[in-house]
Amino acid sequence: MQCVRKVLEDLYWVGGEDRKIKLFENIFPIQNGVSYNSYLLMDEKVVLLDTVDYSVGKQFLENIEYVLNGKEIDYLIVNHMEPDHASIIEELVHKFPSMKLIGNILTVKMLKQFFNFDVDSRVEVVKENDTLNTGKHKLRFVFAQMVHWPEVMVTYDEYSKTLFSADAFGTFGALNGKLFTNEAHFEKEYIEEARRYYTNIVGKYGVQVQNLLKKASTLEINTICPLHGPIWKEGFEYILDKYDKWSKYEPEEKAVLIVYSSVYGNTENVANILANYLNEKGIENIKVYDSSNIDSSYLVAESFRCSNIVVCSTTYNMGIYPKLEQYLQDIKRMNLQNRTVSIIENATWAPGISKNIKAIFGEMKNMNILDETISVKSSLKKDELQSLYAIGDCIINSL
Ligand code: FEO
Repeated sequence: MQCVRKVLEDLYWVGGEDRKIKLFENIFPIQNGVSYNSYLLMDEKVVLLDTVDYSVGKQFLENIEYVLNGKEIDYLIVNHMEPDHASIIEELVHKFPSMKLIGNILTVKMLKQFFNFDVDSRVEVVKENDTLNTGKHKLRFVFAQMVHWPEVMVTYDEYSKTLFSADAFGTFGALNGKLFTNEAHFEKEYIEEARRYYTNIVGKYGVQVQNLLKKASTLEINTICPLHGPIWKEGFEYILDKYDKWSKYEPEEKAVLIVYSSVYGNTENVANILANYLNEKGIENIKVYDSSNIDSSYLVAESFRCSNIVVCSTTYNMGIYPKLEQYLQDIKRMNLQNRTVSIIENATWAPGISKNIKAIFGEMKNMNILDETISVKSSLKKDELQSLYAIGDCIINSL
């Protein structure tokens, strides 16, 4: 049975939702599922914009058959070749023998890598800003390299002023029956997962996202149709502002993120005392996380949100505690920049891991490592409290 939504006069959402999936890209835990959005434009020429993951393939095929109502698909526009949007292409090629695929030169290369059909006989290669007239609509292809793969392009419909934005402006989370961001209360219901999606999937490619934002700023946009999550019909400024900050690696908020590792609770205690002190001094925007009890992808997202990061690590086999080190490597990998950092170490055998933590931050751009620090020996003592408070004061002054 079809599960289709009308987006605009002649545009339909024909995607699918997967709430069984545990790990997106087999690495990021998702608790509320994900949607794979595909769009069918029923103009004089029938155009399908991207497809879905194989996991929702049956639903997708029922959806497109329902909307087609006996018609054929003339064109499949492949904006992105990652298999969560492309794994079912070969089935479609066989099912619709007259359907042409539209992609760029890199799309063609990847089609040949993933599939076994005769790609050259089915594909029309486009260059940046080439257009396709479908009747009423005129579709323009705008390249968006590395947002999030090299072949990515976005498609702009000049007639309806709709931007089919590929992975950009998407989010984790299935749709809950609400197709549009205003109905879905995006700012409340989706923003944390949108941030986690962006920062972990595309966060590394800030420069390329800035390039796409510049191109998008020249377009008059009424609707943004991403490949995951709800569709934007209003309030674009909100998400554009977030994307601008994230891709420039600017913090969203003056906020203190404390990430600790603690085996027996002593380092946790230091983190809690510091958080309490900051709060007593009037700082309300504080979050404290145990790196052992949360997936690093959440900490990456929080690091993009907050202006200040405090790392409290216990020493483990003479090194940084592994779970906390994973977090540090992840923010480095995702190119995080422009943060103010405080480092606290705890050691029972021998101090020294502050140096290792500092070295990781030193490999990141424009990280302001505050001088105030403390080397706890097993557990914090009364006469060390002032040193910890001095770290707190230093953080407050930097906010
Ligand atoms: Fe949703 Fe990069 O694929």
